Amino acid sequence: MRRSFTLVDVLLVLALFSQAPWAVSGSSYCKQTRSAEIRPHSVTITEFGAVGDGVTLNTKAFQNAIFYLNSFADKGGAQLFVPAGRWLTGSFDLISHLTLRLDKDAVILGSLNSNDWPVVDPLPSYGRGRELPGGRHRSLIFGRNLTDVIITGDNGTIDGQGSVWWNWFLKETLNYTRPHLVELMNSTEVVISNLTFLNSPFWTIHPVYCSQVTIQDVTIISPLDSPNTDGIDPDSSNDVCIEDCYISTGDDLIAIKSGWDEYGISYARPSTNIIIRKLAGQTGSGAGIAIGSEMSGGVSEVHAENLQFFNSSTGIRIKTSPGRGGYVKNIYISEVILADVKIAIRFTGQYGEHPDEFYDPNALPIIEKITIKDVTGEHIKFAGLLEGIEGDNFLKICLANITLDTTSGSAWNCSYVQGYSDLVSPETCDPLKQSIFPEHYSDCYHLSNHLRSHSYRNTGSWLLSW
Ligand SMILES: *[C@@H]1O[C@H](CO)[C@@H](O)[C@H](O)[C@H]1NC(C)=O
Ligand SMILES: *[C@@H]1O[C@H](CO)[C@@H](O)[C@H](O)[C@H]1NC(C)=O
Ligand SMILES: *[C@@H]1O[C@H](CO)[C@@H](O)[C@H](O)[C@H]1NC(C)=O
Ligand SMILES: *[C@@H]1O[C@H](CO)[C@@H](O)[C@H](O)[C@H]1NC(C)=O
Ligand SMILES: *[C@@H]1O[C@H](CO)[C@@H](O)[C@H](O)[C@H]1NC(C)=O
Ligand SMILES: *[C@@H]1O[C@H](CO)[C@@H](O)[C@H](O)[C@H]1NC(C)=O
Ligand SMILES: *[C@@H]1O[C@H](CO)[C@@H](O)[C@H](O)[C@H]1NC(C)=O
Ligand SMILES: *[C@@H]1O[C@H](CO)[C@@H](O)[C@H](O)[C@H]1NC(C)=O
Repeated sequence: MRRSFTLVDVLLVLALFSQAPWAVSGSSYCKQTRSAEIRPHSVTITEFGAVGDGVTLNTKAFQNAIFYLNSFADKGGAQLFVPAGRWLTGSFDLISHLTLRLDKDAVILGSLNSNDWPVVDPLPSYGRGRELPGGRHRSLIFGRNLTDVIITGDNGTIDGQGSVWWNWFLKETLNYTRPHLVELMNSTEVVISNLTFLNSPFWTIHPVYCSQVTIQDVTIISPLDSPNTDGIDPDSSNDVCIEDCYISTGDDLIAIKSGWDEYGISYARPSTNIIIRKLAGQTGSGAGIAIGSEMSGGVSEVHAENLQFFNSSTGIRIKTSPGRGGYVKNIYISEVILADVKIAIRFTGQYGEHPDEFYDPNALPIIEKITIKDVTGEHIKFAGLLEGIEGDNFLKICLANITLDTTSGSAWNCSYVQGYSDLVSPETCDPLKQSIFPEHYSDCYHLSNHLRSHSYRNTGSWLLSW
């Protein structure tokens, strides 16, 4: 049914656009770090005895070079250059005010020996390793308590050689949780750009307890059947910008997290102000963009746009469970193109997977204000499998302008969700059938392009279409 816009509606729309201060800081934030910073001091890894033959283990060379560069930290920082070659290494630690720069033909290779990836304490927000109780192997490139770190290159390569780890995982011969390829903990002003990451043992890039993280122009590739090789997992981190990335992996391309059950609830560090744009890729068993399943510290203010996912299991996914607590709210996802994706939108309220038996089954997550708009999809099996939690409905789910060419008879399957929709084809399920406009408009999170310069144009098109 058609309704006409009143002056009040228009004023409401304008008032909403003039709020959202995060949008201004957030989007300028993405641009700020574009230019490569020049450090006053630079050394090359060969000056520390490294050999780029793909066989010599260079862990000591990386450690010694970085130890040496530490003396320049208070003098504008320093750069460690990795020239063309194949540089085998175990895990090493970064320092503040450091640029790790790779030549276009440089390949940093992860050691095939698990002893070269020392075991470190579990994250406090997880309480144990994600896969096994106890500690976890440290990432190949690791940093903790750092400020101003740049990992970049002219599309050079960091290859985790993860197949040994995938085999240990599948054969259940691991003693500790697998390592990530890059992990930064409790760090700020982090830039990761212009690189290709291959074959991570586990998640590829993991910023945890970080702020002001920019990831740009990065290619991440692992086999589509490799286990849990997520692309980028911002975890209990704020002010994160991810743009212009191509990711093709076995699991979620991007998964936003914030800790696990009782450990995540008590650590209480949310992921917030996350911007994702211009992301393309495919995933074997995962989703293009996922939130959770570990979300116990809360996830909010996520803006993702300009996404293209193909040949994938799921497009957009929220995963949670009783016991998680926390929240997922104020999520805005728009301009999504899907092709050959089994499930376009999926909410899973009973994901399971708990760290131990001490989680509180009454700790129910709050899921609300999720806006998904401007989505098209070809060769989609299910438009939406939206499963909330009994007694804990997912609220204010707003779906607008979604056109999916589905092959299943029952395109939408909804339980324990409530929300609104407009211009959705095939027609949504009953709990989401109420129209957004005009009376439910204010229930829907940020139903407009968050980029100020485009807001009015978009408002115009909505006004015209109504
Ligand atoms: C990434 O590469 C592009 C083009 O090669 C260059 O313009 C840009 O400055 C680089 N960014 C960084 C952060 O190195
Ligand atoms: C985080 O790093 C800062 C310094 O960089 C340090 O003062 C603080 O104690 C660290 N916090 C944690 C929880 O590691
Ligand atoms: C980071 O900060 C925490 C908390 O202050 C401290 O316990 C830890 O040792 C620091 N780690 C490093 C590598 O500086
Ligand atoms: C970087 O290298 C990857 C892997 O070879 C390639 O797919 C990608 O197109 C390259 N990116 C750029 C900007 O050249
Ligand atoms: C697990 O521990 C056993 C016994 O110490 C060791 O032989 C094996 O190599 C370890 N597995 C991995 C993947 O490190
Ligand atoms: C998906 O994969 C199939 C088989 O590999 C291929 O034929 C098809 O073109 C792919 N679809 C897209 C959208 O890339
Ligand atoms: C609906 O989304 C498409 C892109 O998928 C866009 O071109 C179109 O302008 C949108 N329609 C409205 C009314 O916003
Ligand atoms: C649809 O939802 C019902 C009830 O939650 C469930 O039993 C059924 O398996 C779902 N169908 C699909 C295709 O997921």
